Amino acid sequence: MWLYLMGLIGLYYLLRWYRERQVVSNLRDKYIFITGCDSGFGNLLARQLDLRGLRVLAGCLTEQGAEQLRNQTSNRLETVILDVTQTENISTVTQWVKERVGDRGLWGLVNNAGIALPLAPNEWMTKQDFMKILDVNLLGVIEVTLSLLPLVRKAKGRVVNVASIMGRLSLLGGGYCISKYGVEAFSDSLRRELFPFGVKVAVIEPGFFKTGITDKEKHVQNLRKIWDQTSPEVKKAYNKKFLDSYIKYTGTMDKMCESNLSLVTDCMEHALTACYPRTRYSAGWDAKLVYLPMSYLPTALVDTMVYLNSPSPVKAQ
Ligand SMILES: NC(=O)c1ccc[n+]([C@@H]2O[C@H](COP(=O)([O-])OP(=O)(O)OC[C@H]3O[C@@H](n4cnc5c(N)ncnc54)[C@H](OP(=O)(O)O)[C@@H]3O)[C@@H](O)[C@H]2O)c1
Ligand SMILES: *[C@@H]1O[C@H](CO)[C@@H](O)[C@H](O)[C@H]1NC(C)=O
Ligand SMILES: *[C@@H]1O[C@H](CO)[C@@H](O)[C@H](O)[C@H]1NC(C)=O
Ligand SMILES: *[C@@H]1O[C@H](CO)[C@@H](O)[C@H](O)[C@H]1NC(C)=O
Repeated sequence: MWLYLMGLIGLYYLLRWYRERQVVSNLRDKYIFITGCDSGFGNLLARQLDLRGLRVLAGCLTEQGAEQLRNQTSNRLETVILDVTQTENISTVTQWVKERVGDRGLWGLVNNAGIALPLAPNEWMTKQDFMKILDVNLLGVIEVTLSLLPLVRKAKGRVVNVASIMGRLSLLGGGYCISKYGVEAFSDSLRRELFPFGVKVAVIEPGFFKTGITDKEKHVQNLRKIWDQTSPEVKKAYNKKFLDSYIKYTGTMDKMCESNLSLVTDCMEHALTACYPRTRYSAGWDAKLVYLPMSYLPTALVDTMVYLNSPSPVKAQ
């Protein structure tokens, strides 16, 4: 009985492995547009796909980032300056992409650009703090997607959205987790709507990785700045000791970060080049072994685990 079961499970993994190895043809003619290529995952993915021979159109926030990327890649890769919060910028870039891809359409759109700050307990922040993150991480993803979708549909291509394991488990206050839950929701409805058109939608859910957005110094500076702006009422309720232990806690997050970004970009590459991409990719051992399993646990249990492991204003007093 157990032998049969193990045989069946083995067979399932073997078939899945075989199915997931099938690669789409004519990769050298395929165009991929990526947002946020100045640094981190987007930058590495642009270089990786360029090496593999795909035609990369890289959206960068700054001219300096764009120049640096062009210096490190073949002359088939082209860059464009794109701030995903600017509607006009998005329509100009869409026209720019259209001129390049022509009748072939756009094979892949990777919504990667994102920010993590301001980040602090909810009560310390204002509506504007939430809006700042949602504007880039959620509304940016939505507007870029809506604008480029006709070109993706033409190619029967792929949309790859970078969410986070924080889009499955809300461990942080502020706009970040909300934005990533939003990306998950948007991707799910989009995938179902686009299935009839032959367009596939994949979500990438990385754990903690060493990039610009997990820079410890920036996080600590941000916490101090937000604390200074909170009301006397909030300062009294939380008190300075809590701020100090919260800053220390943020410092330990830095050590948890994985530095091999390929774990993430390999998932993105698979989503773009495999005949049968997955719907969700969790990248990093922390995501696979801790956060994703945790997201399936009963809420009361998760609440207790988080309470025991993070600084608390009451304990700090
Ligand atoms: N690192 C992690 O642990 C982790 C985990 C889960 C998910 N993610 C997600 O992965 C994605 C990539 O982040 P990363 O970790 O690679 O960090 P990163 O190195 O900071 O890359 C993000 C890129 O987006 C750019 N960007 C910021 N605002 C933009 C805007 N308004 N328009 C266009 N581009 C903009 C940034 O440009 P500047 O550098 O010039 O600001 C940067 O190049 C993000 O969506 C992030 O939420 C990261
Ligand atoms: C790119 O390369 C050029 C010429 O080699 C160099 O002058 C320039 O400083 C480089 N730019 C960046 C941002 O690395
Ligand atoms: C997007 O806006 C920036 C600054 O506002 C500008 O430098 C850039 O050329 C714009 N990109 C396009 C493709 O129009
Ligand atoms: C990073 O991860 C990739 C993909 O799993 C692996 O092939 C590579 O050897 C790793 N690199 C390092 C330096 O560990």
